[in-house]
Amino acid sequence: MASHAGQRGRSTVPTSSRVAAGSPGEPRPRPADTLRPATAPVRAPLEGVPQAAILSGVTSRTYFIRTFGCQMNEHDSERAAGVLETMGYRPAPDPESADLVLFNTCAIRENADNKLYGQLSHLKPLKLAQPDKKIVVGGCLAQKDQAGIVERAPWVDVVYGTHNMGALPRLLAQADSESLPVIEILEHTEMFPSALPARREVAHHAWVSISIGCDNACTFCIVPSLRGPEKSRRLGDIVAEVKALVADGVREVTLLGQNVNSYGRDLVRRGEVAGPGPRNRTLFAELLHTLGEIDGLERVRFTSPHPKDFTSDVFAAMRDVPNVCEQLHLPLQSGSDRILRRMQRSYRSQRFLDLVTEARETIPGVAISTDIIVGFPGESEEDFADTLRVVELAAFDAAFTFEYSKRPGTAAVELDGHLDPATVNARYRRLTELTRRLSAESNQRQVGTVQELLIEGPSKTDPSRMSGRTRTNRLVHVPRHPAAQPGALVHARLLEATSHYLLGEVTEDPCDEPVGTPPPAARAAAGVPQ
Ligand code: 5AD
Ligand code: SF4
Repeated sequence: MASHAGQRGRSTVPTSSRVAAGSPGEPRPRPADTLRPATAPVRAPLEGVPQAAILSGVTSRTYFIRTFGCQMNEHDSERAAGVLETMGYRPAPDPESADLVLFNTCAIRENADNKLYGQLSHLKPLKLAQPDKKIVVGGCLAQKDQAGIVERAPWVDVVYGTHNMGALPRLLAQADSESLPVIEILEHTEMFPSALPARREVAHHAWVSISIGCDNACTFCIVPSLRGPEKSRRLGDIVAEVKALVADGVREVTLLGQNVNSYGRDLVRRGEVAGPGPRNRTLFAELLHTLGEIDGLERVRFTSPHPKDFTSDVFAAMRDVPNVCEQLHLPLQSGSDRILRRMQRSYRSQRFLDLVTEARETIPGVAISTDIIVGFPGESEEDFADTLRVVELAAFDAAFTFEYSKRPGTAAVELDGHLDPATVNARYRRLTELTRRLSAESNQRQVGTVQELLIEGPSKTDPSRMSGRTRTNRLVHVPRHPAAQPGALVHARLLEATSHYLLGEVTEDPCDEPVGTPPPAARAAAGVPQ
């Protein structure tokens, strides 16, 4: 795997020339009216924030955060917003008007790099016109590129990594007093970001991190080198956070971790918890059952579990605990056993299909989504055909598909058989054609049923509609209705389907059982080739 980030400590790099170039970044208005004030208690003192500032919110400065990448970054950005608000900052609608612009970055694929540096170059003329504007880069790409960020974009003021978001106030103060960029990258997490205050994007939903880091070594993946080894939060801390969120109006939580279903293994290893209790459940299943007892918590989701760690008690919890949703994200990555071996993913395609069958048989109506990488080094036409076969058999309800991207320092870079981009792209298009058809068929099966929707807000493409999610995480748009307010649970009759969303209408009729996809055995009986 990639080497760990540089020495613990701080490096200060002098600013160099500031030349105007490029055009201002395209503003993506932050929905300021949907934002909520920081509500989670400040459980850890923030470095560099005078207590008086915390209490009085002394400044009238504004911030704008742009988040790249995964849900973990969404979670971290909400914490960064919380930290900034504790310092007295208020949200701004765009980077142009903000006193501070923060990019929370992603490094998982190469285009994430390109995107960041492209967007940073858009900030250059803004910084030139408003030298007091603070530009901050945090997260995975910062952890990876460290001082390289300031070398390529000398107009950046602060760079912090994946382990030290809590230091933001101190780093900003230092950048102010020294008028120089400040770069601080740590090798280990000292404090869970969850211990920081949060400002949630959506009032009724919260991301809850249950573990950070990853102990696996998938050969394509840069995450372990950037986020470090797996570290689980204590169950009591998670439950306390969720209870506080529910008291604050949250109805749905998504539990986050790189590998949620190995949750707690490190706590057992370190002797911090005793291991499987009297019911002999894994700690992750135990956590789901515990969250099931919280009054007012309507929905629990989680992402992502690893197929190799999947245990039946988690499926049972998804069936038996009423607030755990019938939604499973199970990353396949490849349907070829040879490629799975080269990826260092220790399950095989049959084991994966068995899990899918067990999930569909245990959890009525479950919707299963996945991640798939196309064009991993050495992938032959037969390997790719295996992926298509497994995808068809699994009948995924949704899929996130990626072209393999070389990440520096990962083991896959050293493998032979790197494919030419045209081959990868042609396979990618064949795969997405299949996954799109499967999603459309899956959504089509819902038409005519009545499902529970948690309303998120106005549709992004048609404000005359409201958008919500079913328990299975399907996106549904309904015409405006007095009951369809953000955060409300309503029933909707589903009328039309596409591969990405459904159209429906609010109804008072009772909900039907969610409609699932037949398991592979049933598909075989229906004539789908095995
Ligand atoms: N190239 C392409 N896709 C990748 N992913 C992770 N690393 C790479 C890479 N180097 C995908 C995996 C993972 C998802 C979050 O991103 O499918 O599950
Ligand atoms: Fe990366 Fe996920 Fe594999 Fe960990 S389990 S190395 S985060 S793909």
